[in-house]
Amino acid sequence: MSGRKPLIAGNWKMHKTIEEARELVSHLKRELSDLSEVDIVVCPSFTALENVGKLILGTNIKLGAQDVFYIKEGAFTGEVSPPQLKDCGCDYVIVGHSERRKYFQESNEMINKKIKASLEEGLNPILCVGETLEEREANQTIEVVTNQLEGGLSGIEENQLLKLTIAYEPVWAIGTGKTATPQQAEEVQKFIREWIEKKYSARSASSLRILYGGSVKPNNIKDLMREEDIDGALVGGASLDASSFIAIVKGAL
Ligand code: 13P
Repeated sequence: MSGRKPLIAGNWKMHKTIEEARELVSHLKRELSDLSEVDIVVCPSFTALENVGKLILGTNIKLGAQDVFYIKEGAFTGEVSPPQLKDCGCDYVIVGHSERRKYFQESNEMINKKIKASLEEGLNPILCVGETLEEREANQTIEVVTNQLEGGLSGIEENQLLKLTIAYEPVWAIGTGKTATPQQAEEVQKFIREWIEKKYSARSASSLRILYGGSVKPNNIKDLMREEDIDGALVGGASLDASSFIAIVKGAL
């Protein structure tokens, strides 16, 4: 047993109206409210944050955003700041998701600024890392993940790591139905933990939670969770349906 409490986060991506989001989270609340052995996070679109946040206030389900900008306020049309996320009730924020890296050209440098700004505001960042299929086939997985860790965590102090979660999301496994095998995920996640140990300390490495993301479903969560360095999941598609997300949360017990 690692002693790390599992964390299951649902990334709803660009799905759900406010009403649909309210319905989904109400269902989760009914079924998961007495479950204290797993940390549960839901990450709706910005438009539904406030409504979902009000429904889960004071419960064991925490609110997360899918992205954030790194400046507190100013003339940045379309962006949302860390204080604004706090104001909506967010405790968590996903940073550096591969879809942001790919479609919005987010660099490691920008992701690093977002991590720092989130930490400064007391938000818990979930830093996403992971390689594309081409990179995996070219045996560059470790190199790519190392770059993402070095860039994303540059200048982050050891005491700030307590608030951080890392999600390993191989890009080729996202939304494809092609999950990494537990062994493939474990290999990279073990590397990530060792990297943290080298850069910081064994103590930080052993308390840091590392999630796996990429086609996590009720039927594969148990096998993934058996691995030593998999401490939970960042769930996309299967988090949009209450019963499958509930089954994933329960599968992480
Ligand atoms: P899927 O679970 O739909 O593959 O998405 C994973 C993901 O990108 C979570 O952030």
